[in-house]
Amino acid sequence: AEKTNYFVIDDDLAESIFKPRNDFAHKGNYGKALVVGGSYGKIGAVVLATKSALKTGAGLTFTLAPQCGYEILQTSCSEAMFAKGGELWVDHFDIDKDMTVGIGPGLGTHEDTRKGLLSFLKNYTKSMVLDADALNIISENEENLDFIPKKSIITPHPKEFERMFGKTEDSFKRLKLAVEKARELAIYIVLKDHHTQIITPNGKVFYNITGNAGLAKGGSGDVLTGILTSLLAQGYSGEESCILGVWLHGKAADFAAEKYSKESMLPTNVIDELGSVFGELN
Ligand code: APR
Ligand code: MG
Repeated sequence: AEKTNYFVIDDDLAESIFKPRNDFAHKGNYGKALVVGGSYGKIGAVVLATKSALKTGAGLTFTLAPQCGYEILQTSCSEAMFAKGGELWVDHFDIDKDMTVGIGPGLGTHEDTRKGLLSFLKNYTKSMVLDADALNIISENEENLDFIPKKSIITPHPKEFERMFGKTEDSFKRLKLAVEKARELAIYIVLKDHHTQIITPNGKVFYNITGNAGLAKGGSGDVLTGILTSLLAQGYSGEESCILGVWLHGKAADFAAEKYSKESMLPTNVIDELGSVFGELN
């Protein structure tokens, strides 16, 4: 077997990846992020991912969500543009090649959504971020794994990982399986946990040590998806996006816990604290 190398993400590593904004920049320099998700009753998930894509600095941020989310998104995310896909759930994925896509938050698993997502994956080869129900839909058939574009980032929590790749005895065997799958499918796996692990296609494992149990709340994962989509859109590589993104998410959560406590901090507060983290990086 090929060699695996293990690293811990410290502040210096994250700082070395971060690129400060150019004084002469315009919005065209920072990419187009497109968050795809939401379904009736789960529009909040796509709002969180959209807000975090905006607050992470993408030049333009778009949201593809069902019509029932239109007023909610246009009201809560003034800076984002809305693209409609269906009435109550996303059923068509009309996506331009110049977008960097992050799919999954609140997407749901409606039959029309499943069909739409799978045909999109068969026709779109640019690397993207896949999370939540996008992973659950892919998990329904092992052959779907091959349709994940190379260099994409998937962000399963332990249960989603199990649905995708099967059950393992313990977290060591799970990591070993993740290393195999990342290599085989040529994708980045962000294995979300207390200490999230990033597994690269070439056998590197990065452990994140920022973040805290205040993140153990619905919506925290949606924030991470928005951050990763935004970084990838801005031209960070897959590996850079994963390392910087997971570190940022945890660091912002640590700031939020200090201000509001682990109990009361909300994913929304984590998004707000991204500003303090970027303040320290600059
Ligand atoms: N310590 C540090 N980080 C933590 C901790 C902890 N104790 N608990 C959770 N986190 C972090 C994880 O590392 C991850 O980044 O919070 C995030 C949780 O992500 P998810 O498990 O995806 O949670 P959630 O936001 O609720 O997902 C939203 O998508 O995955 C589906 O079924 C899920 O409907 C839910 C939706
Ligand atoms: Mg999730």
